[in-house]
Amino acid sequence: MESVLCALEARSRKERQELEALRAAGGTALRERAGSFMLDVGPEAGLLLNTLVRVADARTVVEIGGSVGYSTVWLAEAVRATGGRLYSIEVDRRKQDEQRAQLTAAGLDAHVELTTSEAPELVPSLSAPVDLVLLDHWKELYVRDFDACWPALRRGGVVVADNMLMPQKNAEVIAGYRRHISGLPDAQSHLIAVGAGLEVTTKREKLPRT
Ligand SMILES: C[S@@+](CC[C@H](N)C(=O)[O-])C[C@H]1O[C@@H](n2cnc3c(N)ncnc32)[C@H](O)[C@@H]1O
Repeated sequence: MESVLCALEARSRKERQELEALRAAGGTALRERAGSFMLDVGPEAGLLLNTLVRVADARTVVEIGGSVGYSTVWLAEAVRATGGRLYSIEVDRRKQDEQRAQLTAAGLDAHVELTTSEAPELVPSLSAPVDLVLLDHWKELYVRDFDACWPALRRGGVVVADNMLMPQKNAEVIAGYRRHISGLPDAQSHLIAVGAGLEVTTKREKLPRT
């Protein structure tokens, strides 16, 4: 696992310069080239995700936006420890092929199911309640896919959403996502300044309205 993460982190460091230039260019430049970038959560967020799976004793974990497998490796190592299973959605088949290869190289492929089925299709088909979800795909799909996961999430379960603080170009759509969550009576949420900013939302008993 260590060598796979180190190689992906080296690749990510190189990517970041090119990404800066594309972000500065604005428009659709980045989206058009997205298929060639990892766009990973980074090591601090990866470690936090791994820790959250372990402390929540999460057995059914859903990742939405697996890319080439960086966050997948962090999550998969944790579900191996809990005896759970990770369902990772990546809609780009070329990225998914690479994701599979990274998991195999890390010796973690037996703990992960890779799929291109999107969350509204996949999540209702799962037989167990979901313990933890990572949202890290296109930001305008966060509300749709949060809503696809929330009914299947167990009480005490967690949804983690990346890119709350960066990049700035997503600020409006991210604000909409946070507003959506703040309106839920059974959600407790914290913005954590780790990596590009993580919203960590826990499902709890509904509170009486005051
Ligand atoms: C920010 S990257 C994910 C990075 C990854 N979590 C990591 O840390 O290595 C976003 C990914 O979401 C994928 N994606 C886009 N729409 C999706 C959808 N509806 N469901 C799942 N993945 C999607 C993109 O192909 C892209 O690879």
